[in-house]
Amino acid sequence: MAGAYEMLAADYDWMFGDDELANGRAINRPATARLLQRISSTSAVLDAACGTGVDAAVLARRGFTVRAADGSQAMADGAVARFRRERLAIPVLCSSWADLPAATGERFDVVLCVGNSLVHAAGRDAMVQALTGLRRLVRPGGHVVIDSRNWEKLHAERQIVQVANRVVTRAGRRCCALYAWEIPDRLEDEHIAHLVFIFDKDGQTEPHEYQITFRPFTISELRARLELAGLREVDTDFNASVDRYAVVTVAT
Ligand SMILES: C[S@@+](CC[C@H](N)C(=O)[O-])C[C@H]1O[C@@H](n2cnc3c(N)ncnc32)[C@H](O)[C@@H]1O
Repeated sequence: MAGAYEMLAADYDWMFGDDELANGRAINRPATARLLQRISSTSAVLDAACGTGVDAAVLARRGFTVRAADGSQAMADGAVARFRRERLAIPVLCSSWADLPAATGERFDVVLCVGNSLVHAAGRDAMVQALTGLRRLVRPGGHVVIDSRNWEKLHAERQIVQVANRVVTRAGRRCCALYAWEIPDRLEDEHIAHLVFIFDKDGQTEPHEYQITFRPFTISELRARLELAGLREVDTDFNASVDRYAVVTVAT
């Protein structure tokens, strides 16, 4: 699935406001933030779905020893470019979650797979494989953090179009980002997100369109798959009425 991000990488950051790019996104969700506040500020953290490196950069500025990885080369390149611009020494790897333990000899205090990334591990077996890879990356007593959209809530509400931001202006370019979901009847079937970035260029609109597929899961399915991968939940901010949640786990 990371392949779908190869094209999207160029426009990915336009989905987010300047505040999120400066202060981080998924790392500020309640359960994830609680863990990051509780551990030593020099802990070794791997952002295993780093995307363009927004959260990893914020964590490095907070003092954590940060490594970043992503299954998409273009997203990983985006992270490398961000770290260079921000003068941060964060090594970046391109690797899928299942292959990461072999790709890096290192082990970490915290492994993050956040920003609604795990939904790209398509189906039960792929997800268990991915989670097993992530579990193998933690030191004894270390944590693996997963976060997700609350797919049951989203599915029940059938929200299909969201405007991610109003018009954002950066470096003389203006863009409005929106996404629409094709939501099939069954939650476990493949869903498609259509992402559209409408750029304003000298008064002419220029749309860039991308499609990302994903296979949602319920929180019960996630919990069963965490268990199969040898991960035990120790904290969560899950609430049936809230759109997103994180689950903090330790290796069993
Ligand atoms: C929704 S983006 C989130 C990125 C980042 N965490 C954020 O919050 O902006 C999901 C990321 O997961 C990566 N990804 C998808 N499948 C992957 C896999 N099997 N292994 C590693 N990375 C993967 C994609 O390339 C993409 O960068």
